[in-house]
Amino acid sequence: MDLRGKVALVTGGASGIGAAACRRLASHGAVVSVADVDEERGRSVADAVGGRFHRLDVTDLAANHAVVAAIEEQFGRLDIAFLNAGIVASGRDDEPLDEAAYRRILGINLDGVVFGVDAVVPAMTRNGGGHVVGTASLAGLVPMPGDALYTLTKTAVVGYVRALAPTLAARGISINALCPGFADTPMITPMRGQFDAAGFPVLTAEQVAEALAQCLAAGGTGEAWFVQPGMPAAPYRFPNVPAARNADGSHAAVPAGLDPHGARR
Ligand SMILES: NC(=O)c1ccc[n+]([C@@H]2O[C@H](COP(=O)([O-])OP(=O)(O)OC[C@H]3O[C@@H](n4cnc5c(N)ncnc54)[C@H](O)[C@@H]3O)[C@@H](O)[C@H]2O)c1
Repeated sequence: MDLRGKVALVTGGASGIGAAACRRLASHGAVVSVADVDEERGRSVADAVGGRFHRLDVTDLAANHAVVAAIEEQFGRLDIAFLNAGIVASGRDDEPLDEAAYRRILGINLDGVVFGVDAVVPAMTRNGGGHVVGTASLAGLVPMPGDALYTLTKTAVVGYVRALAPTLAARGISINALCPGFADTPMITPMRGQFDAAGFPVLTAEQVAEALAQCLAAGGTGEAWFVQPGMPAAPYRFPNVPAARNADGSHAAVPAGLDPHGARR
């Protein structure tokens, strides 16, 4: 994949999967803008890849737009956005809801993608097209008992990406979700010992970044790419759901433009 002359934005780029993605995109020749709330580590990643750092809290819509405006001003274009910042829930599923913590995980994992899309799509449209990838998780495809709020946000990212893809395709913009299993980043540090004890092969951040590159190179849209240890990353094939039927059993015609994808005929 030759990304020379291309400009990429990576949110949550200071650490883990985002940092590996910055290195990977830069290795293909892209100019990388690293965006994160962690200034010190974000600057260090940006310096290492010859890119630029932007302090960005992804929960702030105006700040997302400001970062994209700065990128356009500096480089004249934006081709790739990896909307990746994310956290796990701070409380347990069986505890009373901590509203501030609930708003926080929704803000980072969900608003971070939706606000990011709102900011990058006009720039990509001016550019004649582009590629957006949101980091969901395997928890976007299968439930993760014990962190229902995380599952909620990641499932939402998958649904959002799949629903938005046809609209963005008309502008030459692809949008996909990356759905990694457990990856060896600071996010899983609290449970790292459990994986080691079980001999479970967690992904490296570099393997997830490689899957990002494969997803971009594949050129599809509206896909949710699972990334699991020991097998190639690939788009998840969602099972179809039954289509609506009339009282006589014949298939019901859905009004034009309201046809959900994947309904079985
Ligand atoms: N590590 C895993 O096992 C795993 C598995 C599946 C999906 N993911 C997802 O991958 C993404 C990256 O996670 P990671 O594992 O690299 O974790 P990480 O903790 O190493 O990195 C997350 C980054 O997001 C940044 N961030 C947090 N809040 C932010 C905000 N408000 N604005 C901007 N940046 C913010 C952090 O500063 C950090 O640099 C997340 O969306 C996560 O949910 C991780």
